[in-house]
Amino acid sequence: MKLDLDALRALIATHADTPGGLMPALHAVQAAIGHVPPEVVPLLADTFNLSRAEVHGVVTFYHHFRQTPPGLHQIEVCRAESCQAMGSDALEAHVEHKLGCKHHDKSADGRWSLEPVYCLGLCAMSPAIAIDGQPHARMTPEKFDRLVAALGDGAQ
Ligand code: FES
Repeated sequence: MKLDLDALRALIATHADTPGGLMPALHAVQAAIGHVPPEVVPLLADTFNLSRAEVHGVVTFYHHFRQTPPGLHQIEVCRAESCQAMGSDALEAHVEHKLGCKHHDKSADGRWSLEPVYCLGLCAMSPAIAIDGQPHARMTPEKFDRLVAALGDGAQ
């Protein structure tokens, strides 16, 4: 997919006069195209009067920001306290095995991105995950397998 740098420049410019506008601009870019590609770093640096190294430092500091396009489906597994107490470590291991990728990574076939999340607000129904932004509570490996199969994308 070819980047529309003019559109991204215009999007970033909407945050130019916002105090601390870099972070909202980064969120806006990722919301628009799914990641923060290296090509936008100079645009951000120019807009916020920062060096490219400073912008790159912010992008790489926060795991939330992806530098490459995400997978077709995005899976988030809650790693916060309540979910950990209810077995999210074992669930996470199952999810990683099922999808063939680790946290902050994408499966080789590009179908899945896996990210940690720290509380989905479903603590009373832990463990919780989200699939493409849709939260799912009381998750089990079997339930996860059914949800993934229902997407029809053929995870093994
Ligand atoms: S701790 Fe996992 S949903 Fe709150």
